[in-house]
Amino acid sequence: MNKSKSFIIDLPKILDKRGNLSFFENDNQIPFSIVRTYWIYDVPGGELRGSHAFKQQQEFIVALSGSFDITLHNGEEEKTYSMNRSYSGLYIPRMMWRKIDNFSTNSLALIVSDRNFDESDYIRDFEEFMQLIKVDEYV
Ligand code: TYD
Repeated sequence: MNKSKSFIIDLPKILDKRGNLSFFENDNQIPFSIVRTYWIYDVPGGELRGSHAFKQQQEFIVALSGSFDITLHNGEEEKTYSMNRSYSGLYIPRMMWRKIDNFSTNSLALIVSDRNFDESDYIRDFEEFMQLIKVDEYV
């Protein structure tokens, strides 16, 4: 089993009658240093993103706008997080199979990760993931 846990992180929220503000910064609100930022948007209804795991990459995902579901599999069990707040996000450790679906219209997923894009870090086959996690020396 993957002993590293996923968890929701509540972000600072500066309430203001002019509009609210939230933030996160390196090594404070999230447990890694940010190297890359990307976002997923204009997702057609019914589409599924993800369906892969990362050998090393950690991520933090915030639903900046709208809502979507993130389903994680740690090699033993599955857990679904409903993301619909712009002031909290989901930390995903390495070696977690993830699917993202149920995107609402105009939803916007902000994702930060601890490394540059590297296709060789992806595991895109679920059976391969289940095999690798059994022998993973770090989990
Ligand atoms: P992928 O991570 O598979 O998308 P998702 O998990 O959201 O379904 O990436 C889709 C494509 O975009 C893939 O061809 C790789 C490319 N890509 C980059 O070039 N740079 C990036 O930072 C990311 C995240 C993806």
